[in-house]
Amino acid sequence: MPVGACQAASQGWNPARESFTGTAATELAGIPFTITWQPTGSTIPVGGTQTALTALRQHGIPVDSSCEAGTCGTCILRLLKGAADHRDAVLSPDEHKELFTPCVSRAASEEPLILAPRARGAQS
Ligand code: FES
Repeated sequence: MPVGACQAASQGWNPARESFTGTAATELAGIPFTITWQPTGSTIPVGGTQTALTALRQHGIPVDSSCEAGTCGTCILRLLKGAADHRDAVLSPDEHKELFTPCVSRAASEEPLILAPRARGAQS
């Protein structure tokens, strides 16, 4: 058993009782904001209870996704401008300066976020 697992087990953690759930809709809520999609210049409103991923798709912008919980990195886009409220668990603080996970993250203010596709081949 790995050292970390032994330590966790000795502190009462029971992996058989651990459960994982997706991000609750209420955790994704926030102030409404706007995305400017850089390739077309389209302005896309994101409602207070809607994800940026959903809003982009509703406006015909295809964005790949998998977990839709901020943990896999499949949906990552480039953040060209704007203050983001990063809610993912996949990007580092340095990566947050120029990348954005639309499945869970939002704008930190009403200032628009300017987003673009991530460079082809950049996703791991
Ligand atoms: S779909 Fe997995 S991080 Fe967004």
